[in-house]
Formats: sequence, structure tokens, C-alpha cells
Amino acid sequence: MENPGKSVLISEQEIQRRVAEMGVKISEDYKGQSLSVVGVLKGSFIFIADLIRNIDPAIPVEIDFMTVSSYGSGTRSSGELRIERDIEGSMEGKNVLLVEDIVDSGLTLSAVKDLLLSRNPQSLRIVALIEKETNRRHSVPLDYVGFRIPDVFVVGYGLDLAQHYRNLKEIRILDAG
Ligand code: IMP
Ligand code: MG
Repeated sequence: MENPGKSVLISEQEIQRRVAEMGVKISEDYKGQSLSVVGVLKGSFIFIADLIRNIDPAIPVEIDFMTVSSYGSGTRSSGELRIERDIEGSMEGKNVLLVEDIVDSGLTLSAVKDLLLSRNPQSLRIVALIEKETNRRHSVPLDYVGFRIPDVFVVGYGLDLAQHYRNLKEIRILDAG
């Protein structure tokens, strides 16, 4: 694949510092409770790996994953959510923390949130590494947000364009394409 120009938006150091802060906050909020982390694949896998290692080991943490898609191979949401892989476990009575990589229109997240709420968790909170300003259109309230960015397409740290660039340590803006 052609390598389009990509300028750094959020450096590796900034990401690591912010994710550590988020872990501290989540650890405070769930002190004395257990936590059921549900990751939305694939984009969140690196964020989740870093985030849970910043959660106090005194808090029992379990992990499950779902795969959904709304994008195809372009850079705009198709507006249609497909559940390609559901979680394995039950969420009945659990403190669920839903982890998204990036919230753009909010379409994906609001659909996943409604689905999870219908499964009777004890509580449901949402954490996203990145919220784009475009989320205001659907206003899915996020409980924890790493970074707020304008309406640009970003890659790296798990985020892809047509499955590429997930392995970048930093988050970059796609300048061309
Ligand atoms: P939404 O439904 O419009 O909020 O889109 C959310 C999903 O689209 C995210 O979970 C990502 O998988 C993908 N996405 C949205 N914006 C970007 C981006 O800038 N880079 C990479 N993926 C993105
Ligand atoms: Mg995603």
C-alpha cells in the first residue's frame, strides 16, 4: 500500500501519560468492586492492553471482546452496525466498562451501548481513547475520554485505515487520501 503523508497528532509519551492517568481515575472509581472490561475490536486492543495494566491490581478485572463494524474500508461510517463477534460471557449483574478506540459519529457506540444495556449489567460506563468533535451529533455521553480531537482521520496505536498502520506507537493524521 502507498504510504500517505502522516503527521504526528499525539506522541507516544502523551498517550502513555494520559492512559496512566485514566487508569488511576478508573481505579479510584471502581475501588472495592470488580470490573468487566468489554473491548470493541479491533481498534481498541492496544489501548486496552495499556489501560488494564494501569488499573490497580487489587481490582479484579475480566476481559471480553466484541467485533463490530460500520466502516468498510473507507474513512466514513456506513451508518450500519454489524456484530461480527459477540462477547463470550454473561454481563448480568456486572460492572461493565465498554472500551472504544475512537468515537466519530457515535453511531457504533450508541448501538453497542443499547445492546449491552439490554443484557442487564449492574452498571455500564464507557471509555474512549479519542472523541472527535463530530460525536456531538449523536451525543453519546462518555465517562472517560483520553483525547478530544477535531474531525480528522487518524491512524496508529491500534487505529487503522483499511487494516494498516495499527502498529504505529503514536497517533498520526492522514494528510493525504
Ligand atoms: P462512528 O460510528 O462514526 O462513531 O465510528 C466509530 C468507529 O469508526 C471506530 O470504532 C473506529 O473503528 C472507526 N473510526 C472512526 N474514526 C476513525 C479514525 O479517525 N481512524 C480510524 N478509525 C476510525
Ligand atoms: Mg472501532
